[in-house]
Amino acid sequence: MVDGNLPVFQLCFSDIVVMITMKRFFPTLFVICFVATIDALSLIPDTLKDDFFAIYRKAAVTSRDIQVAPVTPENVTFYLFTKDDPKRFVKFQKDNLQKVNLPMNGKVAFLVHGWTGDREADWYTEIKDNLLNKNYGVVEIDWKEPANEYYYISSINTYDVAKIIADTMLELSQKKGVPLKNMLPIGHSLGGHIVGFIGQKVYEKSGQKLPRIVALDPAGPLFDVRPADKRLNSSSAEVVHVIHTDGGTFGYKDTIGTLDFFVNGGSSQPGCKRVDLADLTTITEPLSCDHRRAPFLFAEALAYPREYIAQKCGSWDDFEADKCQNGEKVAMGDLNSRNRGKFYLKTGKDRPFFKIEEEEKKKAGKEVEKNADKGTDKDSSRNGNRQDEKEKNKGPLSGIKEAARSVIG
Ligand SMILES: *[C@@H]1O[C@H](CO)[C@@H](O)[C@H](O)[C@H]1NC(C)=O
Ligand SMILES: *[C@@H]1O[C@H](CO)[C@@H](O)[C@H](O)[C@H]1NC(C)=O
Repeated sequence: MVDGNLPVFQLCFSDIVVMITMKRFFPTLFVICFVATIDALSLIPDTLKDDFFAIYRKAAVTSRDIQVAPVTPENVTFYLFTKDDPKRFVKFQKDNLQKVNLPMNGKVAFLVHGWTGDREADWYTEIKDNLLNKNYGVVEIDWKEPANEYYYISSINTYDVAKIIADTMLELSQKKGVPLKNMLPIGHSLGGHIVGFIGQKVYEKSGQKLPRIVALDPAGPLFDVRPADKRLNSSSAEVVHVIHTDGGTFGYKDTIGTLDFFVNGGSSQPGCKRVDLADLTTITEPLSCDHRRAPFLFAEALAYPREYIAQKCGSWDDFEADKCQNGEKVAMGDLNSRNRGKFYLKTGKDRPFFKIEEEEKKKAGKEVEKNADKGTDKDSSRNGNRQDEKEKNKGPLSGIKEAARSVIG
């Protein structure tokens, strides 16, 4: 019943409407909207759905004329972590770099969250830890105020946020001697476009292109109707390294970088359509799970490069039909890769995601390498936490669960 490709997910952008009336994003309302739309879906004629998309696209165009609060350097905060002292951070802002102490010639990654996010973004810790292990300094960026507006306003704010981050990077290179070529912006969703604008801004001001930016399922809505010079594009950096997991819904569907990975085809991920009614937090899973998978796949690809080998191919169909086996291969977590084009790979539905079910493996006719066992310890502790969360969610919410069950189940 809960199927990934239903227009219900698009319809749930009526969440934008909820945000307009309520001025904030409420996950609970999102759930109600989702449940309500599933129920109503069969009653909505196709022509009306088309109208909805027309209105939605119109919003993209008119939104350019909307007045938004200015984004100032106070709205963007940086938290620097280094390997010497991974538990502590140095907090700074664009005009206050005195405390920043970066190793000369050391590499520095900048993590940029998406819409409604903040420094608590669930993927920051894992990618940070994996990069610290590779001797990167890691800066977690928080732009929560401009990110917690209506979606279309946050999407406009991305440009100004990027400008502030780019200026800060230029200052760091001038005052702290960290070469621009050692800086690596990594962004998810709206953050995926922010890293694009960072690259463009750095180039404009220094004449130097960043060697690489990483965009994790860069946002689709409102960006898919923009011309290439108003979004992340293939000239935003020397290598524009993109991972697609939710193309066509929350993510950007088409090729947008120089090195585009389409995981499991790039628009929907295995295991993402599950709703576990004992765990209320999973009710929104079908909506955001595909989109949120990208940073975790990248985190694993950094830690287990050999488990994430992708195959250059013209299309997912050709890849699935084994038509590209002799072509170029590249590891999705390889931060030195210079390959260009569209690359495909398959993953499984549970962590670690590189583990593919026996059945699927047979179907894919593909051999997965041996060291699949690494990482299971971490995974089981994660499951443990999940179990605890489940316990917590039992009780007062059972009425809602019943209601949800009658619609979804
Ligand atoms: C930036 O921060 C100021 C002060 O906290 C706030 O008033 C303003 O709304 C913020 N800007 C945005 C775009 O959120
Ligand atoms: C990417 O965007 C920049 C900045 O707007 C623009 O100058 C450049 O031409 C664009 N590149 C492509 C390939 O569209």
